[in-house]
Amino acid sequence: MVKVQNYSKIIKKLDFSEIEKRNEEICSTIDNRSGAGNDFLGWLDYASKLPQGEIERIKKTAQRIRKNYKALAVVGIGGSYLGARAAIEALNGLYPSDKFKIVFLGDTLSSTYTAQALKFLKGKKFAINVISKSGTTTEPAVAFRLLKEMLEKKYGHEYLKEAIVATTDRARGALKAEADAEGYEQFVIPDDVGGRYSVITPVGLLPMACAGIDIEKFLAGVKDGEKEYSNHNWKENPAYKYAATRYLLNKQGYPVEMFVTYEPHFAMIGEWLKQLFGESEGKDGKGLLPASVTFTTDLHSMGQFIQQGSKVLFETIIMPSSAQKDLKVGNDDKNLDGLNYLAGKKLSYINKKAFEGTLDAHVNSGNVPANVVSFKKMDEYNLGNLMYFFMRTCAYTGYLLEVNPFNQPGVEIYKHNMFVLLGKPGVK
Ligand code: PA5
Repeated sequence: MVKVQNYSKIIKKLDFSEIEKRNEEICSTIDNRSGAGNDFLGWLDYASKLPQGEIERIKKTAQRIRKNYKALAVVGIGGSYLGARAAIEALNGLYPSDKFKIVFLGDTLSSTYTAQALKFLKGKKFAINVISKSGTTTEPAVAFRLLKEMLEKKYGHEYLKEAIVATTDRARGALKAEADAEGYEQFVIPDDVGGRYSVITPVGLLPMACAGIDIEKFLAGVKDGEKEYSNHNWKENPAYKYAATRYLLNKQGYPVEMFVTYEPHFAMIGEWLKQLFGESEGKDGKGLLPASVTFTTDLHSMGQFIQQGSKVLFETIIMPSSAQKDLKVGNDDKNLDGLNYLAGKKLSYINKKAFEGTLDAHVNSGNVPANVVSFKKMDEYNLGNLMYFFMRTCAYTGYLLEVNPFNQPGVEIYKHNMFVLLGKPGVK
């Protein structure tokens, strides 16, 4: 279970009486699936209901891909992309020693990025996991077509059947129709799980397994989270207490939540959180604006604003108690750089002192409220647990805000405009 510690007098002085009044109703609304968007609450107990046979099929497919190919192109955008990438980078780091490469495509319409990624894959024997719930999203559809062209040109059409795995809707969409017609292996994104809650389904699990991650341990963390973060006693439930805190901070005049990590390979967790909270809460003129920074890197850019800029934000720092890897600073007889005072110290220790010093500066001198979300260490189990913790938090805050945390009506407007400009048949 994660621990959330609250810092600053501002948080300590928050008046939780509204939460006392509304808590039971919100907890029951979530548990009984009776609130807005209630047909998208399948993620609540998805992990504990996932049949072992399906987990084995994901693992078997991943083993086949790792054995027969040198790389995997994961094609998807938004909820069909961010969770898998966040998990793979957080667990394997930014420079994994694994010879098997994972490349992400379909999350952009940038011609340069796409051309560069295709060039990286050229000459490598690669497979494709195309992920789209609707099966009609433009970005992944375009990238998928380009990838297929590349493979078909080199190996012929027959090759595609073995090399492509489609993760999509059970029955609808162009991708489902194509997968059926071409005989691609398929995994299902359940109807009752929206994109930004889908990292715990094959959307996240298959790419993770292909990256060599133990998905059973990840799911064990999620399953424990199902019990830990459903406790109706909000004072003892870190997900609900944190949700209440962020809601009340927002009401007190803080429109921005700044997610902070001290690990560059957690940066995509920040991106995943931005989608989770931004798409879930940002509607009806409401919601906290989620932002993210990586310290100490961004202390040299955003640190100034956080310390002394306009008082619009509070911080939520995601902090494992121990590092995945460590190094020691050596001694240098000449000590020309003056660093011998750090000789023998671990880099994780220095990073921790930076965290402590920064927290004190931001909270006590800068008057910036801060929550610290801590857990033992970044591994499969704790990541699954952490992601589920944030998903529960999001549902609870969404209902406090009285929005539907499971739809995204605003996303459709840009899509429509783009289709009109591109002349998509049937769209006016
Ligand atoms: O959260 C969401 O629903 C969106 O971000 C979608 O995940 C994103 O638009 C991709 O959609 P699809 O999986 O249908 O291609």
